Amino acid sequence: MTNNVLGLGLESSCDETSASIVRNGKTILSNTVFSQIEIHRDFYGVVPEIASRAHLEIINPIIETAMNEAGVDFNDIDYVAVTNRPGLVGSLLVSLQSAKALSFSLGIPVIGVNHLEAHLYAPYLEGNEPGFPFIGLLISGGNTVMYIVRDFGDMEVLGKTADDAAGEAFDKIAKYLDIGYPGGPAIEKLATTAVRKNLYLPKILAGSHDYRFSFSGIKTAVAVLYRNEPGVDKAELVYAFQERVLEILVRRLFAASRRTGIRRMVVAGGVACSMRLRELIDNAKDDDDVILFPSSSLCTDNAAMVAGLGFQYFARGIYDDLNLDVYARVK
Ligand code: KG4
Repeated sequence: MTNNVLGLGLESSCDETSASIVRNGKTILSNTVFSQIEIHRDFYGVVPEIASRAHLEIINPIIETAMNEAGVDFNDIDYVAVTNRPGLVGSLLVSLQSAKALSFSLGIPVIGVNHLEAHLYAPYLEGNEPGFPFIGLLISGGNTVMYIVRDFGDMEVLGKTADDAAGEAFDKIAKYLDIGYPGGPAIEKLATTAVRKNLYLPKILAGSHDYRFSFSGIKTAVAVLYRNEPGVDKAELVYAFQERVLEILVRRLFAASRRTGIRRMVVAGGVACSMRLRELIDNAKDDDDVILFPSSSLCTDNAAMVAGLGFQYFARGIYDDLNLDVYARVK
């Protein structure tokens, strides 16, 4: 049954439309991603209504491309996995409806997947299985949350952001300083040109010993400094901003690992593309730590992680049916 299983994954929770064919939850045969970055660039952020319309226009060609690239036929597909939570409801609905139509017409199971859990699955697609339990740090444009992951579908939330997601803070600061979209890569690039690296910004939740994250205070501090000191160098400002944001991520990750004794960690989501973050984590880790980062194309939204995680549910006989719905949030 689980020998040569082909899964189709669909993802449209935010601003990427993606379809992917994965074999046995591990081997990516295709992973077609259409990013709406250009469509939303003028707005410096994702406009939900525009996003869902764009998904609708492109989802069928994206599925077709993924099938062709993988060289498979619809009749070869054993299940269809789809992100059904969390995300923009109008966007989620587009791939959910496609998934249901395929499930119904092909007579194969539909499996609804938690987008955040799917992000943490990405290392499995590159031959890196963390083994349970592991600490999962999910940092993206829409979410910032840290878990103890005990099994597929068994994740204990250690802490979440109290306000913005980490990527969202990058995007908003980049918008405020008018340095490009998406903000994370624009800030990382500009920060490498900073000469002075000791510009002071307040530490975030410095005295807190729980696992909460918060980024809105640092955003305000950057805005106030920029407003009050018109001559301030943008590169130096974003360098300081980036250090503060990444610092709290690294601090929380290692606090969780040390307190729980769990040395296996997965860091995933768009912000995990940050080379500076990888460097800071590398500096902080010791020989007993096993820290997995997916490669960049699997950090940002993609359907391979959805098809891959879907396999784990398929293999356990955990299916959904045509009553499957979408949810903007998860607990
Ligand atoms: O996972 P993803 O596609 O998330 C959502 O769509 O929610 O990640 C996109 C987010 C954006 O907010 C982007 O600014 C951020 O990931 N990002 C980064 C970097 N590359 C992407 N943030 C910080 N540093 C980076 N190098």
